[in-house]
Amino acid sequence: MTMTQRVGLGANSYDILTGSGLLRDFGTHIAALCGSGVAVVTDSNLWTRYGRAFAASMESAGLSAGSDWAPVILDPGEHNKSLDGLGRLYSAFAAMKLRRGGLVAAFGGGVVGDLSGMAAATWMRGVRYVQIPTTLLAQVDSSVGGKTAINLDEGKNLAGVFYQPSLVLIDTDLPQTLPEREFRSGMAEVIKYGAIRSKPLFDRLTGRPDTAALAEIVAQCCRIKSEFVERDELDTGERMLLNFGHSFGHAIEKLGGYRRYNHGEAVAMGMALAAETGEKIGLTAVGNAARIKEVLEIHGLDTACPYEPEALLPQMELDKKNENGQIRLVLIQEIGTAFVHTIQLNELGNCLQRRGIPK
Ligand code: GLY
Repeated sequence: MTMTQRVGLGANSYDILTGSGLLRDFGTHIAALCGSGVAVVTDSNLWTRYGRAFAASMESAGLSAGSDWAPVILDPGEHNKSLDGLGRLYSAFAAMKLRRGGLVAAFGGGVVGDLSGMAAATWMRGVRYVQIPTTLLAQVDSSVGGKTAINLDEGKNLAGVFYQPSLVLIDTDLPQTLPEREFRSGMAEVIKYGAIRSKPLFDRLTGRPDTAALAEIVAQCCRIKSEFVERDELDTGERMLLNFGHSFGHAIEKLGGYRRYNHGEAVAMGMALAAETGEKIGLTAVGNAARIKEVLEIHGLDTACPYEPEALLPQMELDKKNENGQIRLVLIQEIGTAFVHTIQLNELGNCLQRRGIPK
């Protein structure tokens, strides 16, 4: 069964289609938007695995390879989310004569989605694009909401633009073949949605979801994300609540050189730290930190941060959302309700010291 949800953003509105086995229908949905001039951006691992099925879906919708669409196949990896990667896409678009009426289909995880979105936003001053996320993390987070970006030597996601896709196609079977560690990383974001907005979702996450449950859970996360995006498309207010665990998480990812922990693993530790901090300063009801840690650990996510406050705090201060020695931290009152709390760096330091971060 395919679930359709509308992201209501006026002229920038679009549908998110979610379902198990949706890959078979990708071509039909793409053809309904654009009959020729489609660039399918992907990476070589994904294309080896799914290229034939993707091509068959395009063919059965009447889109011929070569004349109506062409794959643009990148090496896998974060290095492509860069000025060089952007240049590679522009060259490919030029080679296939992608016109303003054409379409970019981003078939991949967050790297492919962010990079393709940025390329689509700027190619000929903007062509439409479709997000077709293949990782759980991208399905529940980065494919919805129009954040596009590339990394610079100076920092991650420093150059980017808000540019909404025209459609999001989510086949929830695809993440189930991911390496376990990748799947866990996505589950951290799923748990986050429950923690900030939906206790029923949170309470449902007592084990690895089966195929049918995963499709419902992904759709539920996309609904929650869409509601934040509809109210705050340009991320100037409420959308920040989606960053529960991320202030700590980004610092943890950075301290680990972006290799020791992936995004979800770092955010899992960050959510545990944020919930403990909230309890320590009396803004989070006692017991919620233990419950969050319990659910994260059920999904194989470590909750003990290995870094000392002396290492974490300077990284947090550098975060673009913080200034003047103050940290804007997302906390929860209890599971399902989140808010932003501004805390002085030294007060946060005292909290973390008292907590005693294990080595
Ligand atoms: N990933 C958080 C947001 O899209 O705002």
